[in-house]
Amino acid sequence: MELLREKIEKEGQVLSDTVLKVDSFLNHQIDPMLMKEIGEEFANRFSDQVITKVLTIESSGIAPATFLGLTIGAPVVFARKRKSLTLTDNLYTSSVHSFTKNETNEISVSKKFLSADDNVVIIDDFLANGEALKGLMDIVNQAGATVVGAGIVIEKGFQLGGQLMRDQGLRIESLANIKSLANGKVEFFD
Ligand code: G4P
Ligand code: NA
Ligand code: NA
Repeated sequence: MELLREKIEKEGQVLSDTVLKVDSFLNHQIDPMLMKEIGEEFANRFSDQVITKVLTIESSGIAPATFLGLTIGAPVVFARKRKSLTLTDNLYTSSVHSFTKNETNEISVSKKFLSADDNVVIIDDFLANGEALKGLMDIVNQAGATVVGAGIVIEKGFQLGGQLMRDQGLRIESLANIKSLANGKVEFFD
């Protein structure tokens, strides 16, 4: 997605060989015009599928997921992150380990909002090691729902999550795929 690449080139800050800061339009301040385009692009990429629900994880997945939901007219559910869970009866839960932050979060979705009848697209802002995606897939599987694919705003293709999940048969649509962040420079895959 050309518009997104330009935005990353213009406003993204390479913090290290592995971390890209995009807080001016995605992770802190949100650019709603860009986010609208992102929602429409995801809708186009998945236009061959019937989608009944968009699933994401708080917090930064919510904006792109919501614009997809708006475009296709489907509800958006975000998994919540919790430190501890005592009552899990009416929740699907999974644990997500972040190698970046070296912490494990329990994520949860109410059983009210996901069922075996659902055809789900999973949306997230970043794909790095794929741990968030794995946790969300786990939740969809617990619900007995069908995953039609995952839409990612920025994939870091030099990390292994994308390959790992594609190898397991998951369809992943990335709007920008980064090949390298070496030497303070963003390089994209074609
Ligand atoms: P993984 O799910 O692919 O394994 O990713 P990882 O554990 O490495 O990511 C942990 C958090 O860091 C996630 O956000 C993820 O979106 C974010 N992240 C990963 N790589 C980058 C990067 O290069 N730049 C930025 N800006 N974020 C990155 P989170 O903790 O869930 O936070 P949020 O959704 O509340 O923003
Ligand atoms: Na994030
Ligand atoms: Na995220």
